[in-house]
Amino acid sequence: MSAGFAQVKRFLRESSGLAIEEDKRYFIEARLRPVLRANGLAGFDELALALQRDRRSELARTVAETLTINETSFFRDRSLFAALADRLLPRLFSARAETRRLRIWCAGCSTGQEPYSVAMVVDEALRAHPGFRVEILATDLSRAVIEQAQRGAYSQFEVQRGLPVTLLLRHFTRRDDLWQVNDALRSRVTFKVGNLLSIPHDAGSIDLVFCRNVLFYFEAERRRGVLHRLAEVLASDGRLVLGGAERIADLCPQLQADPLTSFIFERAPASRPDRRA
Ligand SMILES: C[S@@+](CC[C@H](N)C(=O)[O-])C[C@H]1O[C@@H](n2cnc3c(N)ncnc32)[C@H](O)[C@@H]1O
Repeated sequence: MSAGFAQVKRFLRESSGLAIEEDKRYFIEARLRPVLRANGLAGFDELALALQRDRRSELARTVAETLTINETSFFRDRSLFAALADRLLPRLFSARAETRRLRIWCAGCSTGQEPYSVAMVVDEALRAHPGFRVEILATDLSRAVIEQAQRGAYSQFEVQRGLPVTLLLRHFTRRDDLWQVNDALRSRVTFKVGNLLSIPHDAGSIDLVFCRNVLFYFEAERRRGVLHRLAEVLASDGRLVLGGAERIADLCPQLQADPLTSFIFERAPASRPDRRA
């Protein structure tokens, strides 16, 4: 492995959490080729030197963003959205009967299909709980996907991947060859650029955190660190939702799997703020 490639790999691990296997070198080269060209860099050795000079430069951000994997779709993992409608939201509505306020965070939201799917379920649930305020924050490391999510315009192919026709017609309007999210749904979600490796200290307490299919690409040590922070920002009775195939084994003793669903987690009793001295 060239020294330059090893340094670029280390930069990615430290800046976004992304773990890259040696056999992905050609994939990485292909993705970064336009960035190298645009910045007049001859290869990984020159890129490594530039990143070493300034890890907060525009080039550094672009490199981290270019290598994100943004695969997503509406209502990805149907069973989760059924659990959200049938179990997670009703429980929270009754637990928050006094404050009448819920906070939801979609971390690693990609181009917005996930938070808009959550917002559609929330919209339906609010019909039975009209006085509640539900804030949905959606963040991603990549500025490009956040801008796309904020625009809320999706192709026919994108809406066909998972969005039921009734919801498409209720929440979207056809504009030319795209489907535009209606203002009412769009205003339910606040989008921001944010890195999971630096979750702000004032982020808690959040009732539902979705962090699906993001940590999957991280090496174990980073995954452990992020899970630990996510456990801390959860409300004492909050829930963390991972991707359908994601398991945390014993990476994070502060979290325990929900007895009914293997990818939904709650705070382990000893880590709940109201149980600590
Ligand atoms: C595969 S997509 C998953 C999108 C959505 N959560 C879902 O399950 O459909 C992963 C997203 O995580 C984002 N991501 C990767 N590393 C991140 C980090 N350190 N902080 C915040 N977002 C990150 C990527 O930019 C990408 O959009």
